[in-house]
Amino acid sequence: MLPVTAEPDKTWLALLDETELIRCRRILRPADRQAYAAAHALRRLALASAMGVAPNALHFQVSAQGAPQLLPHADMTLPSFSLSHTHNAVAVAVGPPGTIGVDIEENDRTEISDAMLRHGLGEKDAAALSPLPMPERVERFFDLWTVKEAVSKAEGLGRSLGFGHIHLAQPDHAVVSGATVRHWKIWRMRPDQRHFLALAAAFGTVEPEIQRLDVARLSAWCAEKSAMY
Ligand SMILES: CC(C)(COP(=O)(O)OP(=O)(O)OC[C@H]1O[C@@H](n2cnc3c(N)ncnc32)[C@H](O)[C@@H]1OP(=O)(O)O)[C@@H](O)C(=O)NCCC(=O)NCCS
Repeated sequence: MLPVTAEPDKTWLALLDETELIRCRRILRPADRQAYAAAHALRRLALASAMGVAPNALHFQVSAQGAPQLLPHADMTLPSFSLSHTHNAVAVAVGPPGTIGVDIEENDRTEISDAMLRHGLGEKDAAALSPLPMPERVERFFDLWTVKEAVSKAEGLGRSLGFGHIHLAQPDHAVVSGATVRHWKIWRMRPDQRHFLALAAAFGTVEPEIQRLDVARLSAWCAEKSAMY
């Protein structure tokens, strides 16, 4: 969880590579720069800890659909990972080999229009949410939207996967329809009253272990890892 401050902490920037630093510097809004740096530093820390390597030993590429991928490291089996940044919060997930998707969003709205419902969720879910009173409609929108974004990342397709193809069949089970039908286990969380978080992973994945960090703990972890390697 991030308070809105002026600039990213130096300890976070110290972990980023040249490509990440260039992308970070290009972001116009300070709060977005801060969230980008926090998310990418946290991704390196979480992956490096899972793999037992230095954070700066990790190298990434991006697929044609925008999915970040870890480049092979020695002969190691690579973990799955996903990240998300929003206002005042970021989320990083690391899991077993395969793919995983995480999304965090801040509810910064008092209303969601019908057009936004359709754009964000697809026709079918938009029709189900449209009759709801506005406060409930807004809550349900963010809840479902984070689920769909998490699934779209686990699929590696992002927004190119039409969100109308993703359906929440059970509170913890999403189905993606198409030429083949795919199933994802879903965990939904509320880090605080304003934020919605969803995680999508393969069925059979163990229950997630959740760590909540504030800025001070993130900076301390970054400094500790930097000193170690
Ligand atoms: C991936 C996507 C679905 C999520 O984007 P988002 O919610 O705007 O942003 P998030 O911070 O949650 O996620 C961005 C991260 O997802 C990851 N990502 C991007 N494309 C991805 C893909 N195809 N597969 C897996 N992960 C992907 C990246 O790590 C990216 O962060 P980075 O660029 O800093 O490395 C994006 O493709 C997108 O298109 N979003 C559409 C937003 C939109 O339409 N909003 C209006 C709704 S009403």
